[in-house]
Amino acid sequence: MSTAPILATDAPTIPRHVAIIMDGNGRWARQRHLPRLAGHKAGVEAVRRVTRAARAMGIEALTLYAFSSENWRRPAEEVSDLMGLLRLFIRSDLAELARENVRLRIIGDYRAFSPDLIALIEDAVARTAGNSGPLLAIALNYGAQAELAAAARRLAARLPADQIDEAAIEAELDTAGLPPLDLVIRTSGEQRLSNFLLWQAAYAELLFVDTLWPDFGADALADAVAAFGQRQRRYGGL
Ligand code: FPP
Repeated sequence: MSTAPILATDAPTIPRHVAIIMDGNGRWARQRHLPRLAGHKAGVEAVRRVTRAARAMGIEALTLYAFSSENWRRPAEEVSDLMGLLRLFIRSDLAELARENVRLRIIGDYRAFSPDLIALIEDAVARTAGNSGPLLAIALNYGAQAELAAAARRLAARLPADQIDEAAIEAELDTAGLPPLDLVIRTSGEQRLSNFLLWQAAYAELLFVDTLWPDFGADALADAVAAFGQRQRRYGGL
């Protein structure tokens, strides 16, 4: 069985699919002697700037790690603050996303959230489902290992073992239908994937930048895309 990825001989300079680990909100707030919530609020502003910039640059899909399956370990107050910000973001920004022809997707098990938030999320996804423009995927209660285990369970219930191949697994992931992941950016100087898109990142370029997420914006995204354009992607070839 051949599993060689399609060689991108005419790889575009603009990555089709960019994923971001938005890290450093807490440190941004601490540097300013502000509560962590202020850092997360500034993080939402960065989400707005970067989603607009990504659209303007022609990036087809942007995936943002907003809440990991490990983030439940944070103090209850901070978890509740993050949920509140997500609620606010959907309420205040859905109209713009719909108007801009953005398709909203969620990856991760958001059904663990409160019923009102689940309803809000599902309404937002449904209201943008018919759009044909760029994809904004928000990772909520997402963990790559859980995503892969769930995909394996569904496939095992449906297919004989010898038919479970890479394509079958890929089609069961939360990201099915999104373009191949080209670039993963992590802000704030940490150099880890933290259980984010482990399968999808197999051939992605990884970029770690020192900027704290609330300071990230259109210029920083343009710099990241320029750095991506300098990378030689060989997909295991020469
Ligand atoms: C990491 O910073 C950031 C998060 C865990 C949450 C990211 C969430 C947002 C930007 C806001 C909500 C998102 C949307 C899409 C509305 P950290 O708290 O781990 O920072 P630290 O490592 O400096 O403490």
